[in-house]
Amino acid sequence: MSDAASQETAFDRFIRKTRDLFAQETDLEKRWTALNPILAELLADPASIEASKRWRDCIPREKRAENHLFYEDPDYGFVVNGLVVNAEGYQHIPRVHDHNRVYTLYGLIDGRQQIQRFERLDDGKTENLARIRKSVDVTCGPGEIDLVRPYEIHSEDTVGDRAVAVIVRSELSEGIPSARYIPEKDYYWMVDGPMQNRISFY
Ligand SMILES: [Fe+2]
Repeated sequence: MSDAASQETAFDRFIRKTRDLFAQETDLEKRWTALNPILAELLADPASIEASKRWRDCIPREKRAENHLFYEDPDYGFVVNGLVVNAEGYQHIPRVHDHNRVYTLYGLIDGRQQIQRFERLDDGKTENLARIRKSVDVTCGPGEIDLVRPYEIHSEDTVGDRAVAVIVRSELSEGIPSARYIPEKDYYWMVDGPMQNRISFY
């Protein structure tokens, strides 16, 4: 192994492999499916797990979520975010949401979360109206990865004290509004994308 390779961190390796994949695979479904094992390798890395325990909680403000931002790719536009949520942290933000046009690969690196998926029953053509029904309800732990395609409706709720996710998105979501849903009221509205707190992964 060369010196450069031996000094490469798991996060560096993850970025290198992701860039290689984006260069080779232009079919979005294949690209985002193939990214799963590359993210899994990062989630299993002991130094990365250790680093994730030092990231501070994300702090929602004025009903707007916050993400840590580790990396934004200059060529392909994908970003790597972190999300740290304690049991109470996001209680006052409506849980059910989508990510608009953005592809998202959501991987847990620490803690546990309940992930729910919803299917849409109306045609989506009436403003603020959304009839949705729960279709998936699972509890996930470290190393588990969820691919959230554009406009897929879902929620992630922390089970226990603290959960930490490493999230790959097809673009920076700060300027992209996303829908928040109240299932029992058949209601949705748009909010600004998450605020970005730029920090180093390690
Ligand atoms: Fe989400």
